[in-house]
Formats: sequence, C-alpha cells, structure tokens
Amino acid sequence: MGKVQLLAEQRHARTQLRKPVWIMVLIFVFILFLISAYVHPPQSSSACYIFSSRGCKVLTDWLPPIPSREYTDEEIASRIVIKEILSTPSPETRNPKIAFMFLSPGSLPFERLWDRFFRGHEGRFTVYVHSSKEKPVHVSRYFINRDIRSEQVIWGKISMVDAEKRLLANALHDPNNQHFVLLSDSCVPLHTFDYVYDYLMHTNISFVDCFTDPGPHGNGRYSEHMLPEVEKKDFRKGAQWFTLKRKHALIVMADNLYYSKFRDYCKPGLDGKNCIADEHYIPTFFNMIDPGGIANWSVTHVDWSERKWHPKSYTAENVTYELIKNITSIDVSIHVTSNEKHEEQIMPCLWNGVKRPCYLFARKFYPEAQDNLLDLFSNYTTF
Ligand SMILES: *[C@@H]1O[C@H](CO)[C@@H](O)[C@H](O)[C@H]1NC(C)=O
Ligand SMILES: *[C@@H]1O[C@H](CO)[C@@H](O)[C@H](O)[C@H]1NC(C)=O
Ligand SMILES: *[C@@H]1O[C@H](CO)[C@@H](O)[C@H](O)[C@H]1NC(C)=O
Ligand SMILES: *[C@@H]1O[C@H](CO)[C@@H](O)[C@H](O)[C@H]1NC(C)=O
Ligand SMILES: *[C@@H]1O[C@H](CO)[C@@H](O)[C@H](O)[C@H]1NC(C)=O
Repeated sequence: MGKVQLLAEQRHARTQLRKPVWIMVLIFVFILFLISAYVHPPQSSSACYIFSSRGCKVLTDWLPPIPSREYTDEEIASRIVIKEILSTPSPETRNPKIAFMFLSPGSLPFERLWDRFFRGHEGRFTVYVHSSKEKPVHVSRYFINRDIRSEQVIWGKISMVDAEKRLLANALHDPNNQHFVLLSDSCVPLHTFDYVYDYLMHTNISFVDCFTDPGPHGNGRYSEHMLPEVEKKDFRKGAQWFTLKRKHALIVMADNLYYSKFRDYCKPGLDGKNCIADEHYIPTFFNMIDPGGIANWSVTHVDWSERKWHPKSYTAENVTYELIKNITSIDVSIHVTSNEKHEEQIMPCLWNGVKRPCYLFARKFYPEAQDNLLDLFSNYTTF
C-alpha cells in the first residue's frame, strides 16, 4: 500500500512540474508564430484563418506598423496634413475644367495650334501663362489676359519649381479646375480636346514621371543633407511636365518641409553635383507620400534616344503624318538609366488598368513646324 501511495505522489508531483513547462513552451511557440507572422505577413489568406475566420486583416490591424525610423515633429505634422487632403473626396463641381499652365520664357510659338485645339470647348478649360523673361505677345483670344505674375527662372534651380507652384496657386483659385497640366512653350497637342479631357478627367491618378535611376544623373545627385526626411532609397527622377489631380496640386501647395530640402540641397554645383530640383522634387515627393496615386510616366512625349544634352527637336520637314502616328501609337513608357549599363525600364502605360497610348502632348518642336502641324492637326487627331 505504502509503495503504491508513494508512486502516486511522485507521479502527481511530476505532472504538477510538467504543466507550467508545457504552458511556457506553448506560449513560446505562439509568440514565435506571432513574430514570424508580423515580419513575414502571410501571402495566402488561408494562413490567416488559423487565428480568425475574418482573415488577415484582423491579424495585421492590431499590430502597429513597423516604422523604419522615428519621424520628426515636422514630418508628423506634414504627413497628417497630406493624409487628410488625400482622404478627403474632392467636392463635386458642376463644371469641371482642366487648367492648362504654360511655362515659357516669352511668347508662345504654337498659340495658333492651341487656338485650334481649344476652339469650341469654351468653359471646359482655363489657360495660365508664366513667362519668365519677357512679356508675351498673344495672338489667340484664349491666351490674352491669361498671364500671371511671373519671376525669373534659372535652369536647374528651385526658381523652376517656384514657377510651377505659382502656376498651380493661380489655377487653384478656380474651384472648377480639377486637373492641372504643365506645358512648355515647345509643347504641342497630339489629340483633340475631347480626347485629352476624357483621358485626364476620367482617371483618379496624376501623370507624374517617376523612376529610380541608379546612375550619376539620378541617385548620383542625391545629397545626404536631405536626411532624415528624404532617404536615398526614396530619391526619384522624372521629367517636370506633370498633370496633377486637384488634391495633388493642393498637397504641393501645402508642402514646405520636403520642398525646403530640395531648395537647399538639390541645386547645380552643390557638393560637386548637378542636382536639378525640377527633375527630382515632385517625383520624389509623390513617390514618398502617394506612390499609387501617380502613373509614373508623363503624358508629354519627348525623344531622348539620341542621348545628347537636349532631346530631339523636330523641324518643319520632320513633321509628317507618320511621325505623329508613331508618337501617338506608343503604349509603353521607357526610362533609361544614366549608369554605364543604360538599362531600359519598360512599363506598359495603364489607364484605369487598361493598356492605352501614353501620350497626349509632345515636345520639342521648332516654331517653324507650326504650319505643318496645323495642316496635319485635323488629320492626326482623328486617330
Ligand atoms: C482609383 O480608382 C480605382 C477604381 O477605379 C481604385 O481601385 C483605386 O484605388 C483608386 N486609386 C486612388 C489613388 O484613389
Ligand atoms: C508607380 O510606382 C510606384 C513605385 O514603384 C508603385 O508603387 C506604384 O504602384 C506605381 N503606380 C502605378 C499607377 O502603377
Ligand atoms: C529632321 O530634319 C532634319 C533636317 O531639317 C534632318 O537632318 C533630320 O534627320 C530629321 N530627323 C528625322 C527624325 O527625320
Ligand atoms: C515610325 O516608326 C517606324 C517603326 O518603328 C520607323 O521605322 C519609322 O522610321 C518611324 N518614322 C518616323 C518618321 O519617326
Ligand atoms: C489629310 O487628310 C485628307 C483626307 O483624308 C488628305 O486628302 C490630306 O492629304 C491629308 N493631309 C495630310 C497632310 O496628310
């Protein structure tokens, strides 16, 4: 009897000892699982059902996001303003318009062509002209009295971005303006007004050119003075000729933090680098704050294939039906890196998820090309 009781007591003691160990092991395994689920979020939703029949959302929702670093007070303030603007639906307007904003040194050589483009569409667009060198002489009624107060623009410097912001600020005054198009004096339209209007109005993204260039004319221009707000991994490049939705235009107005980084540390000659603010500020900024809200290509075509300092410029004799047809049928965007490899990054131009031709406008054309363009306009805009 005594022996049996002793054995029973021993067993009892052992199970008492084993229980907490078991629980600790279980808890440990559970914690390990949680950590691994946090670090590597499950790819397939079936994995999430282990915890909840409602799926992954529950598991990831109550875990705070991993911040890659601690934000400064200014960043926190800036990001909350941006988030608020992005999440506020734009008020419905009875008469949505497109703002065409021209950035030019002086007179616009293609006003007669633009006049043809705008004719018959009064009330659906507004024109703004920023001429940085001399007062322009206008020949089209759509351009007369549309000059805004302008200042000098120095190539490569922040004054270029300031001129873009001045145009946006003026155009934002009109609550009907819903999409904002930046154009140069050497830009021409490739399609009818209706085509351009529908292309821009019936999508919820802005067409901002943006890509990662690991070469000297891309990341090579990045300065660590931009830290902590702008990290090298966020640095992007793109042509300045954007089109912006109204909320994106507002965000550009609201930003001072990121703007000041580029104003102070992205300029020709700083630290032996030739940073061009207008090629980096807007692409980098939108890539950081709303990457899914931009197309990553510009709707203004330009041909850099000759790889010279300036893009190809078209003379009067270059302007043929075939040339325009070629440009308007391109439906992939190509970015070429500036490193030795000259890598081509090719992406389909997706408009609301559907592959479509990329371009609405083109540059650069010599002024003498206007008559040929006018002759062709009625033909090529029927593509
Ligand atoms: C744009 O609209 C599509 C649906 O048409 C939606 O899936 C997408 O999230 C929207 N994008 C933005 C940036 O609002
Ligand atoms: C643009 O590129 C960014 C970053 O590569 C990407 O997250 C975003 O989805 C792209 N935009 C569109 C509309 O595909
Ligand atoms: C454009 O025209 C110039 C002469 O005006 C000629 O030298 C050049 O090859 C042409 N370029 C193309 C792409 O046709
Ligand atoms: C148009 O594209 C075709 C095919 O890529 C090319 O052979 C031709 O030279 C181009 N013509 C012009 C005028 O650019
Ligand atoms: C424009 O189209 C008309 C009719 O289709 C044609 O007769 C004319 O030659 C075309 N013009 C040019 C410059 O291609």
